Amino acid sequence: MQKSIDEAILYSKRWIDIIHTPNVEEDQAKQIIEECQYNFAEHFNKGWLDYRKSVTEAGDWAATEWTGSGALFRDILGREYIDCLGGYGMMDLGWGHPDVVETVKAQLSHTPMPSQELIDPLRGVLARLLAMITPGDIKYSFFCASGTEAIEGAIKLAKMYTRKNGFIVAVKAFHGKTMGSLSMMGKSDYRQPPGILYGGPVYHVPFGDADAVEKQLEICQKVGIDIAAVLMEPIQGEAGAIVPPDDFWPRLREITHRYGVLLIADEVQTGLGRTGKLWGVDHWDVKPDIIAIAKSLGGGVMPISAFCSTEEIWQVMMYPNPFIHTTTTGGGALACSAAIATIQVILRDRLWEQAADKGNYLIPKLNALVEKYPDIYDSITGRGLLIGMHFKDAAVGYKIAAGLFKRGVLVAGTLTSAHTVRIEPPLVITYEQLDQVLDRLEDTLKEVSRTLSAPAILTAN
Ligand SMILES: Cc1ncc(COP(=O)(O)O)c(C=O)c1O
Repeated sequence: MQKSIDEAILYSKRWIDIIHTPNVEEDQAKQIIEECQYNFAEHFNKGWLDYRKSVTEAGDWAATEWTGSGALFRDILGREYIDCLGGYGMMDLGWGHPDVVETVKAQLSHTPMPSQELIDPLRGVLARLLAMITPGDIKYSFFCASGTEAIEGAIKLAKMYTRKNGFIVAVKAFHGKTMGSLSMMGKSDYRQPPGILYGGPVYHVPFGDADAVEKQLEICQKVGIDIAAVLMEPIQGEAGAIVPPDDFWPRLREITHRYGVLLIADEVQTGLGRTGKLWGVDHWDVKPDIIAIAKSLGGGVMPISAFCSTEEIWQVMMYPNPFIHTTTTGGGALACSAAIATIQVILRDRLWEQAADKGNYLIPKLNALVEKYPDIYDSITGRGLLIGMHFKDAAVGYKIAAGLFKRGVLVAGTLTSAHTVRIEPPLVITYEQLDQVLDRLEDTLKEVSRTLSAPAILTAN
């Protein structure tokens, strides 16, 4: 028996009305903030509230996001933030890019979702577009919603094509949190609690160490363990924007060819321009066998992801059973329309070049701050607009992230994980906004450095 249908009808109606309200008054806004905190705590995940800068650093009223445009967004009380988190790489085009929003609205008046039986036009259009812009001979794509689903698909495809079960992946890698992708992840915090993961062999090697990959393949060959693929991020994102040595990806390509193993590039975060090239692997002109794409593919408007491969490898997706891999809602028309508009904007505005130029502007300035504040910083890593600020310890990192938030700049870096704080703004961020970020960062650094050098207060007892 349902708990309270009448209540649910009223409550959903209340929120439909709020969604339709262009501007909320301050009193109503404060009420909404309290209600949203209650909902998170009681029905979603209280732990999320406990670590959020938006709750701990926003003053009396927790910051509750409401609107945004470009690299700026506002909370419900109208406070403005420069977004240097970019939804963890999902906002390459910024908040609600008008070209994407208008395209999705227009598609909404045709079909929001496919019949599942007739030919839905946009899925094929998007697959064809990806064939035009992905590296090497990649020609076919499958669409789903999240990065982790794209990785699940890539894993399954590699297994089906090679008829082998083993994978070689990297320490500190991040590929998603469903069972298959979680098995490939290189972080114990997430892998350990759920217990036994993927049943096949998975070997973790240090990222950027091609010798270690080769050694592992040699060992597997000697002991008779079959490896399907090597799966890596071109530049590690979650790990803190870690760029591998220049010969790493070319060597991976050569070694995997030599051992008859597939090479999968997880371009979920690096793809579509973020690192200053259209694809992360373009930095080294490497052509992987399978790539996974997600995050900004939907332009920050719709969730959509893909895994893509060559005609030869894709045969196992088509024959003998063309329904060997499906998902009912993945690749829906609205999501595909968003991705088509996103690709148009990225190519038309050459956003990867903007990422490269803005990264070249920002990174030297951040390196100068590392020299100026050696007690706070360890180093700056990254490429394009995927930048990692590495701090002496997590406590200092959190102070910086929190201090920036108080000054209206959002960066990645949470109470539970702030040793490395990522700067990952929309690629459309302006130079003026970058200067403001730098000013506010320097201001924060001064404040934190003062607290670090202040003598400890001795308490007599
Ligand atoms: C490189 C990489 N792969 C996969 C994923 C998983 O994507 P999602 O969070 O959409 O499942 C992420 C997410 O951060 C990622 O950075």
